[in-house]
Amino acid sequence: MCCISSFYVFVTWSQIFTKPPCAFILFAYFFKIFFYFSGVGCNSVEKKIYVHLNYTFPCVRLLNATHQIGCQSSLSGNVGVLHELESEENLDWVLTSGPNPPYMVILESRLFTRSIMMKLKEGSGRVAGVVVVAPNINPPEGFSPHTACPNDNSGVYTENYDPTLAHCNATVWNPLGNGLAYEEFDFPIFSVKDDNDTRVIRQCYQDHNRRVNGSNPQFPLCAMQLRSSMSAVTNTATCKRRNDINFSLTPDRVCDELGDFNIWASSRPMNTTTKGHKEFESVVIAAARMDSRSFFFDIAPGAESTASGIVTLLAAAHALRRATQEAPPNRTILYTFFQGETFDYIGSSRMVYDMENNQFPLDLDNIHSVLEVSQVGLHSDSKLWLHSDPVSRKNSSVKEEVEKLVNGLKSASAGLNVSVDEPDVSQPLPPSSFQRFLLARPIPGVVIGNYRSSFTNRYYESMYDNAEYLNVSYPENMTSEEQLEHFPETVKTLTEVATLVARALYVQAGGNETQLANITADPQIVNQMLYSFLVRANNSWLQQLVPTDFTNHLADRPTNFYVGVIQYFSEPTTLVQYMLANMTGSVVNVTQEDCQNTLAPPLYTYMWVQGAAPPNSTEREGFCVRSTVHRSIAVSPAFELHEYTTSNYSTWTESVWKPITGRIFLVASHDLEMLTLGVGITVLLTSLVLTYVISSKADILFSSGREPTSATY
Ligand SMILES: *[C@@H]1O[C@H](CO)[C@@H](O)[C@H](O)[C@H]1NC(C)=O
Ligand SMILES: *[C@@H]1O[C@H](CO)[C@@H](O)[C@H](O)[C@H]1NC(C)=O
Ligand SMILES: *[C@@H]1O[C@H](CO)[C@@H](O)[C@H](O)[C@H]1NC(C)=O
Ligand SMILES: *[C@@H]1O[C@H](CO)[C@@H](O)[C@H](O)[C@H]1NC(C)=O
Ligand SMILES: *[C@@H]1O[C@H](CO)[C@@H](O)[C@H](O)[C@H]1NC(C)=O
Ligand SMILES: *[C@@H]1O[C@H](CO)[C@@H](O)[C@H](O)[C@H]1NC(C)=O
Ligand SMILES: *[C@@H]1O[C@H](CO)[C@@H](O)[C@H](O)[C@H]1NC(C)=O
Ligand SMILES: *[C@@H]1O[C@H](CO)[C@@H](O)[C@H](O)[C@H]1NC(C)=O
Ligand SMILES: *[C@@H]1O[C@H](CO)[C@@H](O)[C@H](O)[C@H]1NC(C)=O
Ligand SMILES: *[C@@H]1O[C@H](CO)[C@@H](O)[C@H](O)[C@H]1NC(C)=O
Ligand SMILES: *[C@@H]1O[C@H](CO)[C@@H](O)[C@H](O)[C@H]1NC(C)=O
Repeated sequence: MCCISSFYVFVTWSQIFTKPPCAFILFAYFFKIFFYFSGVGCNSVEKKIYVHLNYTFPCVRLLNATHQIGCQSSLSGNVGVLHELESEENLDWVLTSGPNPPYMVILESRLFTRSIMMKLKEGSGRVAGVVVVAPNINPPEGFSPHTACPNDNSGVYTENYDPTLAHCNATVWNPLGNGLAYEEFDFPIFSVKDDNDTRVIRQCYQDHNRRVNGSNPQFPLCAMQLRSSMSAVTNTATCKRRNDINFSLTPDRVCDELGDFNIWASSRPMNTTTKGHKEFESVVIAAARMDSRSFFFDIAPGAESTASGIVTLLAAAHALRRATQEAPPNRTILYTFFQGETFDYIGSSRMVYDMENNQFPLDLDNIHSVLEVSQVGLHSDSKLWLHSDPVSRKNSSVKEEVEKLVNGLKSASAGLNVSVDEPDVSQPLPPSSFQRFLLARPIPGVVIGNYRSSFTNRYYESMYDNAEYLNVSYPENMTSEEQLEHFPETVKTLTEVATLVARALYVQAGGNETQLANITADPQIVNQMLYSFLVRANNSWLQQLVPTDFTNHLADRPTNFYVGVIQYFSEPTTLVQYMLANMTGSVVNVTQEDCQNTLAPPLYTYMWVQGAAPPNSTEREGFCVRSTVHRSIAVSPAFELHEYTTSNYSTWTESVWKPITGRIFLVASHDLEMLTLGVGITVLLTSLVLTYVISSKADILFSSGREPTSATY
């Protein structure tokens, strides 16, 4: 407190002073003297322990048409006395009996429950913030901060479509979902890893704040400041309006729309200059989603919810490359990866919108059917379930196609080590991008997942949906190179699933069944992709597949699948783009110059990637990859239409924030602080008077033209 008030003196002085620089120097000299007196209390307490926390993950503010969710601190950060919660009963100390509110509550992850968090939210007058200590081992009981009925308001199952299926009436997909990630908290919530930071926090708490023998802890107490100040408030319409006002004054935004790019590629080249309907083109869409989420910003590992689907579909595309080139089926297969699906289907709703408005190289009439790969990480003795939509199946032509697709999948599984089955025919589709296509019209389609009527994923959209959960682990003493050659068990099962998907797609596209034996996914590729997404993208395999200017973006940690705001090099999107180009494209023998400048769409895209270095050289040998991979924008149509209150499309925006920091220090007693503040204010007033006197007599005091040469400060 005292330091802040001293600083305040400093700012005030320098602002009201009108005759720099000599007056300023004089002031600085005064300031030094004042600081010396007023700063005594400050130095002796506050400097004792003052640790910046290095690895913190905040929860941030998001807004939609009607609500704001997430967390925020005050502008300068919230400060509270540390209290480590031992059990739910112990909440009483924080909420009523503790003598030094507000408290900064430290929670073990097992106490990060809805019940405790809602009590803290209600008592937020005495709660300065919450720190959740992330464990090194996933909680066995499961945890999902998502809602129990994901994307409830934006899918196809509304009252108009079939009231009996709306709002998860028929089946609750994510029974463990506690909805915490959709609550609003008016204090900051951070996550810290269980490591050095946490040790420092705990030590400080033990040393200063713990009750000993039933007596209250004595000052000075250990306190923490968390700062995650968010600019946006209320809802998307409000923040968009403020954006516009702000923009005319300063180019500062208040919030940004969530969004990114979808990635797609066709098994046959397509003229991308012509938009809208293409005669004689019939496509089978093979889809997966590209994003995930967790309660905290920046950690969305999405291993099962997202990566398992991406890897399966990419491996299937790779398995199909030869067959689709040598014996092309009648229909084109369109591999599509949707972004932002977590937030009310941003990517798929935009693609459907673009198809309806002739902004995409195809339209909805070109779609023959859809096969979507949902969560497919197989756990022991689990099966794959083929979900379809009971409402559109009432149409006999749709029903017939769905049955063909299901039979194709069933017969494709015959030679493989995976079993497939269908849930009840009356059961609705799980949350899936395919629902956005059905909203537009009845299209035959199937969604493949490892669950029957509720997710088997115990960590849906949480930070625990990670490599550990998919059993993707490698012996520790291995180098990164050796790990890329080591296949965890999951690789085998995902390879089988990818083979199944590839064969079913080929048949669905009208391919010749005699080719099926040649369509087999490659476990090596599956392993390399899993490793890149779940362990580290910065590995020797992926380095070969990307252009040189992207190399710095390859991270030494698991991929973060949170969609975020639109940027050119977003991590998952770009990884999928380069992987898909490698899986479906071909290498052409041209120079780098030609690859980058001469060759161009509409039929193909060309990318110069850096390749590998030959054994006795350090110089990489790049090559040109020709593929049909494209990006298409994945920003909700609501922003295109400027309809910020619509319920037809996603309206999610992310607040802009000030720098995010966390630190701990010791605070003196409240009385001492008040005293220090008093001294600070006295100093301030005295200095104001002085300033006034000096500046009004400045002409006399500082004769013009004299430079202060000997001033030291
Ligand atoms: C906005 O989000 C809140 C919290 O999840 C939800 O209750 C509300 O229905 C959403 N509004 C719209 C228009 O989707
Ligand atoms: C944690 O502390 C130990 C020793 O105090 C140090 O060796 C190690 O590098 C630290 N780890 C991190 C991540 O700072
Ligand atoms: C954070 O990093 C700084 C410098 O890198 C270091 O001095 C400090 O001890 C670290 N804090 C913790 C809690 O490890
Ligand atoms: C707490 O009480 C026990 C026994 O009553 C005593 O031995 C111990 O010294 C006390 N500890 C402190 C820190 O006062
Ligand atoms: C693609 O379509 C455009 C517009 O119709 C046409 O001008 C161009 O020649 C076509 N390109 C190819 C390779 O067919
Ligand atoms: C991971 O291993 C455990 C124990 O071996 C098993 O129960 C679980 O099903 C496995 N999970 C996956 C995704 O293979
Ligand atoms: C069934 O759906 C198709 C489009 O997929 C449509 O052309 C046809 O009219 C529908 N039939 C009925 C009976 O609604
Ligand atoms: C990626 O790994 C290489 C070593 O293989 C290392 O030199 C480089 O700094 C890493 N890049 C990043 C962004 O961490
Ligand atoms: C894909 O990447 C591998 C390197 O792992 C490379 O040998 C191969 O030529 C690439 N293929 C294409 C089509 O880019
Ligand atoms: C690539 O093209 C160059 C010149 O056009 C030729 O000399 C070389 O042999 C080609 N390489 C391959 C692998 O075809
Ligand atoms: C690299 O090795 C090959 C044979 O292994 C040899 O022909 C070539 O000259 C070597 N290149 C360099 C630059 O040493």
